[in-house]
Amino acid sequence: MLAPDFYRRLANSYGTPYFIYDARVLADSLRELRGALPAEMEVFYSLKANPNISIFALLRSYGARAEVSSLVELETALRAGAKARDIIFLGPGKSRQELAACVGAGIYAVVVESLPELDELNRCAAATGIRQRVLLRINPATAAPGSRLTMGGKPRQFGIDESQLLAAGQLPCQYPSLHLAGVHAYLGTRILDVAAVVDNTARVLEMAERVCAATAMDLEAVDVGGGLGVAYFDGESDPDLDQLRTGLHAVVQPFLRRHPQTRLLFESGRYLAARAGTYVIAIRYVKESMGQHFAVTDGGTHHHMAAVGVGSAFRRNFPVKLLGRASDPSTVDWHLTGPLCTPGDTIASHVPLPALRPGDLIGILRSGAYGPTASPVYFLSHGYPAEILVHDGQPYLVRDRDTPDDLLRKQHHHSFARMAQLVD
Ligand SMILES: Cc1ncc(COP(=O)(O)O)c(C=O)c1O
Repeated sequence: MLAPDFYRRLANSYGTPYFIYDARVLADSLRELRGALPAEMEVFYSLKANPNISIFALLRSYGARAEVSSLVELETALRAGAKARDIIFLGPGKSRQELAACVGAGIYAVVVESLPELDELNRCAAATGIRQRVLLRINPATAAPGSRLTMGGKPRQFGIDESQLLAAGQLPCQYPSLHLAGVHAYLGTRILDVAAVVDNTARVLEMAERVCAATAMDLEAVDVGGGLGVAYFDGESDPDLDQLRTGLHAVVQPFLRRHPQTRLLFESGRYLAARAGTYVIAIRYVKESMGQHFAVTDGGTHHHMAAVGVGSAFRRNFPVKLLGRASDPSTVDWHLTGPLCTPGDTIASHVPLPALRPGDLIGILRSGAYGPTASPVYFLSHGYPAEILVHDGQPYLVRDRDTPDDLLRKQHHHSFARMAQLVD
């Protein structure tokens, strides 16, 4: 944690709410993850977790490569200094423009998610005369255990069913403008049980051998997905990296002995970004309703949908802390709510905190991943909050808060004078 008055000074300079990221925690998370993965496994940062260009630039400077899923994420990675050969692009509904941009930029691989997309990319590569490398995303026959959000092993828009690939015959000759170089599988997110990650990796490596043998694709690269989580809620703990190291070593080494030239890719968004970020909100009003205590703040669902529990089966509190002043013991049972006109805009329920007052700053911890980027930031036209990255003790504003003008200038005001006259 940073010193209490640091948050207050930033609130005075930039207003609230804001997200603050600690560069040291980002760098440490990457270092720890790399230490737990086999040396041959390359870490690709999933920009969807936090697409801020300075966040990625920092992770890149410590050796992360980029996994992107949109034109803007691709451009972000390139502008942040990533080499095209260190970028992969995935997603089930890529546009022609996105495919052309991948081919044009010369990224390492497009992760193709359906047979029609393979045709489209083949046409795109043929038109430009550039042979594009492809990893085929496979939807495995069975789901992965241990994941909070299952992305495979079921009828899904992601990837090509393993059975379809096994029946597809020799693929390279069918797509002469593509280099079919290996496979990708991503089975789920927020996995805390490292045994599940190890098991997934073993299953993906086996599947890669099986599919590449059946289709005559090269086994130049296997992306084993990732999905490693961090603890948010009571009773959870961060993944045990020692156990991960031992487990992965045991499954990866035999594979690499059989395929010493194969690149192994590991994707990570949440694990790298979550713990580095704090969502800092300010209390506007304190009130009581039917015997319960409410602190109404300026932050909520529009910036941090995960913390308010949207998308979860039942609501649980992210770690919450009073910032910016020394606090007395936690004596009051609070509901921390936001400014939106919905009862769902509750950031934490029944959270024990000291007596609160307007102006107090509250930090929602472990909020560096899937914050505003995965939230309805335009709801009630609030827009994006400010983002600040702290590096070597210095705060750097890495994103301006949206202003009313930012939000209004893309709208077109037609006055419909005749209709107004009719109403008058
Ligand atoms: C294909 C793919 N890769 C990577 C990620 C990033 O996952 P995480 O943030 O859990 O590491 C996701 C998240 O949904 C994904 O769908």
